[in-house]
Amino acid sequence: MAIKTQRDISPGRKVCFLLGLLALVLGGCAGQFRISGEEEEPAVDENLVVVGVSQVGSESVWRTANTASIQEVFTNDRGYFLLFSNARQRQENQIKAIRRFISRQVDYIVFSPITESGWDVVLQEARDAGIPVILMDRQVDVQDHTLYTAWVGSDFHGEGRNAGEWLEGYLEQQGREEEEIRIVVLQGTEGATSAIGRTRGFQEVAVTHSNWTILEQVDAEYTTAKGREVMDNLLDKYEEIDVVISQNDDMTFGALEAMSRRGITTGVEGDVIVVSFDAVKSALKLVEQGVINVDIECNPEQGEWVEKVIRALERGEDVEKTFYIEEQVFTPENVGEYLDQRNY
Ligand code: AHR
Repeated sequence: MAIKTQRDISPGRKVCFLLGLLALVLGGCAGQFRISGEEEEPAVDENLVVVGVSQVGSESVWRTANTASIQEVFTNDRGYFLLFSNARQRQENQIKAIRRFISRQVDYIVFSPITESGWDVVLQEARDAGIPVILMDRQVDVQDHTLYTAWVGSDFHGEGRNAGEWLEGYLEQQGREEEEIRIVVLQGTEGATSAIGRTRGFQEVAVTHSNWTILEQVDAEYTTAKGREVMDNLLDKYEEIDVVISQNDDMTFGALEAMSRRGITTGVEGDVIVVSFDAVKSALKLVEQGVINVDIECNPEQGEWVEKVIRALERGEDVEKTFYIEEQVFTPENVGEYLDQRNY
């Protein structure tokens, strides 16, 4: 089946589509329909390829950019009808959304699973309904990996290793490779692939250094508020912290606030080395200013890659099971050349 264009829409469907569009414009979300709670849902345009997307939430700047990348590609004029659902950080909302997508007989289901476990049943339901599932960003831990067609996302384990290897090099450069190094880790959502991978990757490097001590690893849920709160508690508890590994920029913003309130300086000239993940523009500016030492990129622009998978499936082609997005590491030395290009 080829991807359908708007030219295929019948006059009746056009009226329906225009009414829907008007609702969207009034609601400020042109090009897609939101599904939430028990609200009445819009009629899908069956002349278009119907894609149901269940997003984790809107916990971070990264997540907002990830959502935008989906909304930019799955538009009507590119032949798609997007049903978008924000799960607000709850797995049960994601499961409900997927079931609604199934009952509405969408052509594809795309979702970013909040945590890895608990998906076997609903994915089996999607399979029984003959709907291909494409995972985005995070992964699922299922017995049968044929329950999903493809996954598009980041090498989280590699990101964690990059953080560890950067720290290794930096301490060496500073002549601190023999010093006792006390580390705290602000982790992302417990059970999420990104938190699991980053933790493991960093730990793999950390265990090779007997002088590095991970004082504590605490779940700070990928949010600024929680990052601030967790960092505050850690500062109450530990007199000396040399390194903060913060598994996303939003938590880093909170942690920086908590430290600066106590007069603790960070970054290149500061008391505490700060390693962050994601590399959103506002964090990269802090890298440029030397407040954050390094930012390990996690690329949220996954929409175009998810769409490529769907296009290939529409053409009846086989697709790769896993697709890793390209990412890099930003330090004060190289960040300048990328800052202008960042739009999130
Ligand atoms: O799974 C990717 C992570 O989820 C990003 O690092 C974080 O910012 C987001 O909320």
